[in-house]
Amino acid sequence: MCGIVGAVGINNPRDYAIEGLKMLEYRGYDSAGIGFLSDKINIFKDIGSPNHLDDILPSSFETELIIGHTRWATHGTPSKINSHPHLSCNRKIALVHNGVIDNANELRTFLLSQGYKFYSDTDTEVVVNLLEYFYLSSKDMHTSLTLLKDQLEGSYALAIINEDYPDSLFMLKKGSPLMIGKGKGFNLIASDASPMAKYTNEFIDLEDYDFGYISKKEIRIFDKNNNLVDRKPIVKDAESISHDLKGYPHYMLKEIEEIDEVVKRAISIYHEDNQYQFDSKLLKDLREADHVMFIGCGTSYHASLVGGRIFEICNNIPTTEYIASEWAFHPVIPGKKPFVILISQSGETADLIHCLKIIKEKNNVPTLLITNTPGSTLSRGVTYTVLLHAGVEVSVASTKAYAAQVALLALLSGALSKNEKMVVDLKDTIDVIDSIKNNLKQPIEQIAEEIKDHDNVFFLGRSFDYFLSLEASLKLKEISYIHSEAYPGGELKHGPIALISEGLPVIVFITDPTTASSMRSNIEEVKSRGAKVYVVATKSLSKKGDALIVDDYAHFLSGVAISSIAFYLAYFVSLKKGYNVDKPRNLAKSVTVE
Ligand code: F6R
Repeated sequence: MCGIVGAVGINNPRDYAIEGLKMLEYRGYDSAGIGFLSDKINIFKDIGSPNHLDDILPSSFETELIIGHTRWATHGTPSKINSHPHLSCNRKIALVHNGVIDNANELRTFLLSQGYKFYSDTDTEVVVNLLEYFYLSSKDMHTSLTLLKDQLEGSYALAIINEDYPDSLFMLKKGSPLMIGKGKGFNLIASDASPMAKYTNEFIDLEDYDFGYISKKEIRIFDKNNNLVDRKPIVKDAESISHDLKGYPHYMLKEIEEIDEVVKRAISIYHEDNQYQFDSKLLKDLREADHVMFIGCGTSYHASLVGGRIFEICNNIPTTEYIASEWAFHPVIPGKKPFVILISQSGETADLIHCLKIIKEKNNVPTLLITNTPGSTLSRGVTYTVLLHAGVEVSVASTKAYAAQVALLALLSGALSKNEKMVVDLKDTIDVIDSIKNNLKQPIEQIAEEIKDHDNVFFLGRSFDYFLSLEASLKLKEISYIHSEAYPGGELKHGPIALISEGLPVIVFITDPTTASSMRSNIEEVKSRGAKVYVVATKSLSKKGDALIVDDYAHFLSGVAISSIAFYLAYFVSLKKGYNVDKPRNLAKSVTVE
């Protein structure tokens, strides 16, 4: 993971670096640091998020060349010494790194044999010293970067300062994202466009093995064959990459409250002029498939469970859903004519990138990526990409992207069978989402108050309600640190019912007419063992005493219509416990390590 920024010739380097790193905090916030060149390389770094940088940096300084880093620890604990930037032994080269160097141990052994000393536990310190080693003999950065690239195994996005080149910021990329922001009289670099959006709207997405440098006036990129390449910048509008909180106290709350707009937008884009708007080749490939395999991680995996069930019910296509990190170890693609759908909000998740590599080694399997991130690493490797258009999701806990993923999968299913009712059903969910936003926040907050001091919480449901339970449980544990379990209602009696004890909160979703009565029986089973049950039900299936009642909607769209209930609940619990809602401990938004 980790986020990096760099700039040459910008007017306010201090602000750019600090504010930029704050925007990249979603990539990790174990430690942060900044390096800049004046008469020598200066480094300021410490554990904690980039918010601390204001305190540890001089209040003003002049420099043409700056790099910065926010870290999600992989090699070495979160500590000052392991923080980036890292300096080479002669202190003349500094760099920041996002990625993991797989052969760091071998390279360290080699450098030790050459008299190098190491002060941190990081793979990055190996990289900076290896670069110094090549530079001392070649006296040329271009040659040194070529040699470095040939030696490094693993993933890396690097921004590098060398004291001998006071006008140039060097870069090198493989496997981890890196973008250039093209300015006038300055140039920028960052892990994504957000830190640079205030300064430019023209961005160049670097490709794997690209390397080169930016100066005030020049951008020089060389590809893997060492050829100078002219990568055309893409223009992005500021709104689509904005991190403005728009008056909300937290990104998570803002993003939950955007769900209605996100669903409307998905409908208007993918069902414009009363016609489904998906690539006809994509639909053809999907229709010809005899099996669709879905693959994702975390929340995106939960969306794939919903999508798979919708495809089976509405399109009669057999599906299998896999957790990416599991599938990679038994990589079987079911079916004679399979199609693979990868789901990833960020489009950068390493577990999925690994799976895609395996899938591509198998001949001619068409792949579709459903993602929120145009130009992401995954989108460059798949046959088709369909964008969520959900707007940037900053909060580490995914909310609006989940609702958008489910909405998109429903639209795709509708397009496959030319089912116009799907759009009507999806439009109906918007009123449900709005009425939750307008009328149910207070009762949800009350439930949060009642469960916040418990050590354990259960979520129950059947079929689509079970899939939503999985997501609700993940969200609660992720940001409130309360242990929670999600179970299919019918599975309880096969073991987990032993955990039900006096007062244990059990949250139950009942929105599916076909499973409602069995679910009611399961409720009696847990109630008779002392559980405190909170039922979330649709009006036509509700009973006296239910905690939250919502208007009816097509039950397979729970992930769109009522996922906000699960999200608000987790949000309020986390808030009441005094935790950092948007930045839960140990996590990062973009999981770029396996
Ligand atoms: C949970 C959450 C994670 C992500 C998972 C996959 O709230 O956000 O479980 O869903 O890390 O990330 P993407 O979708 O970017 O591949």
